[in-house]
Amino acid sequence: MNQIDLIKKIPKAELHLHIEGTFEPELMFEIATRNQVSIRFKTVEELRSAYNFHDLQSFLDLYYEGAKVLIHERDFYDLTMAYLKKCREDHVVHTEIFFDPQTHTERGVAFKTMFDGIYRALADAQKEWGITFHMIMCFLRHLSEESAIETLKEALPYKDKIIAVGLDSGERGNPPHKFERVFKMARDAGFLTVAHAGEEGPAEYIWEALDLLKVKRIDHGVRSDEDEKLIKRLVEEKMPLTVCPLSNIKLCVFKKMTDHNLKKLLQKGVKVTINSDDPAYFGGYMNQNFIEAARDLNLSHQDILTIAKNSFEASFLSEADKKRWIDQVHE
Ligand code: ADE
Ligand code: ZN
Repeated sequence: MNQIDLIKKIPKAELHLHIEGTFEPELMFEIATRNQVSIRFKTVEELRSAYNFHDLQSFLDLYYEGAKVLIHERDFYDLTMAYLKKCREDHVVHTEIFFDPQTHTERGVAFKTMFDGIYRALADAQKEWGITFHMIMCFLRHLSEESAIETLKEALPYKDKIIAVGLDSGERGNPPHKFERVFKMARDAGFLTVAHAGEEGPAEYIWEALDLLKVKRIDHGVRSDEDEKLIKRLVEEKMPLTVCPLSNIKLCVFKKMTDHNLKKLLQKGVKVTINSDDPAYFGGYMNQNFIEAARDLNLSHQDILTIAKNSFEASFLSEADKKRWIDQVHE
């Protein structure tokens, strides 16, 4: 079996996916039209041609701008359902999606409107296609601790439907320690924790995410490579990294895919997973990330199987469900 057929065939879990980052230009224009919101780009092509980023912030500026057309529950439903159709095509059988309440509540959209739309689509896809899911609520790290605490309070009535809290948005200058207290509050309320760290920020931020935020996974974490002591700890603790290859190229974390350190991290024994991050902006969903990383980094069939197994091991599924899926990851 060739590499591409293997990637397509095996079941996979996605652990690093921002639902707002799945907003394809066609759907953005459709929703903007029905909500009578204007977009500063005239056509889908013009919008797509603006997807030339030089760093994380240049992407985030466009990503937050695009999210502004999402107003009604139906908009969040349509956005999420479009992503779930891609999961079905790519044989992603379980997904743990990030959502950013502050992106919406800050502009007057009710938490409930956003949440209900996303959740209803996830529940429908589970019923229709058997795709299981968890929801992870991210705090925007460029905003204040106070705003994060406010968001956590708003989420408490939905606690049973949110497995974990996370941390995203502009990393540089917004270290994990800024959110130590709100993460403690979240853990005390029963949430698991994850955090973006070591995407653009230094290895030091990964230490902080582990020690202060007590995370179960590091999102990205590719800069761990700069610190041998940290690598040793990640390996010893079997700490998963949710790596996003196409994202890292689009946001210039690595110049080109052949420079990516995913295979190196894997060879050092780090529990690496592959994910799509913001697929509408970065050139592909789950399988495309696997295919390009596998091709350019010469991943073996065994590497591909290991990464897919890691995705279930690193998930928040029950031990029985993890085992059930891992048993199905083979040639
Ligand atoms: N929000 C959406 N995508 C992100 C990324 N790659 N890093 C940080 N915040 C994000
Ligand atoms: Zn991300």
